[in-house]
Amino acid sequence: MSAPVRKAVIPAAGLGTRFLPFSKAVPKEMLPVVDRPVIQYVVEEAVSAGIEDILIITSRHKKVMEDHFDRHTELEAALEGKGKTAESDIVRDLANLADIHFVRQGEALGLGHAIGTARNHIGDEPFVVLLGDDIMTAPVLKGMVDTYANHGSSTVALMEVPMENISSYGCAAAQAIEGEDRVVKVTELVEKPSMEEAPSNLAVMGRYLFTPAIFEEIANTKPGVGGEIQITDAMASLMTKQDMLGFTFSEGRYDTGKKSDYLRAMIDFTLAREDLGPEFRELLVETVKREGLV
Ligand code: UTP
Repeated sequence: MSAPVRKAVIPAAGLGTRFLPFSKAVPKEMLPVVDRPVIQYVVEEAVSAGIEDILIITSRHKKVMEDHFDRHTELEAALEGKGKTAESDIVRDLANLADIHFVRQGEALGLGHAIGTARNHIGDEPFVVLLGDDIMTAPVLKGMVDTYANHGSSTVALMEVPMENISSYGCAAAQAIEGEDRVVKVTELVEKPSMEEAPSNLAVMGRYLFTPAIFEEIANTKPGVGGEIQITDAMASLMTKQDMLGFTFSEGRYDTGKKSDYLRAMIDFTLAREDLGPEFRELLVETVKREGLV
């Protein structure tokens, strides 16, 4: 039986250049999807996969994320004074979602570097990584944690993408494992390959589970694509020493750091809301008719 996975790392210290000008002064991880910031969905996903301890990698420009998961006693008291206890509970509960910690990445040197800043906090345990701008509605993280309980290996979430898009992602070649449906053995990893060089159309998607051995590989990783310390390169190096598995899925992922995917998240999440969905559906139908979209 493998050690239980108790800790998560959520890197959220990037510059968010794809979401300018919004992301100049406000972290893109604080973009609202309906009425919750993206990072809250990510934290809630970790909690629902059984994670108790969460480390958010932040930066000096992103302090507002810490406030979101802290108490706000004046607001709670004001809401209670007005008899708004449900709202007051919502505000207070955010501070009790999990044991949430923060560490700063002094410079945005890449995802691998961001994860490396978690080394002391994680210690000698397996842990999961959830990208702070990626929302997943599919139970991928829980599936990865269960996979680790059976196999004891690092695991990465993988989804097929159209071949013409593969150069935006980390790319994996993989082999089937007998008796497994969604779990595969990763045989090669390349960061943002050209279409011609890509070994497959399987893309790495925002969720990782690592044994603590990844930290030594990160420490030895030199800057790669884009001059950043790439987690894909550290994983490729880890794969020469330990098995790396892939957990495949096909839908339910939103890269909210990309404007078009953020808008898709806003539409899907609003439609799914009991209080807002019906009215929003009518609005969409009206818009589609008015604009002659179908
Ligand atoms: P992204 O590549 O999506 O974030 O990294 P970015 O670099 O902020 O985005 P663009 O490309 O400039 O728009 C995925 C996650 O990793 C974090 C980001 O904050 C994001 O949540 N990240 C990225 C870090 O924490 N540190 C880094 O150095 C880079």
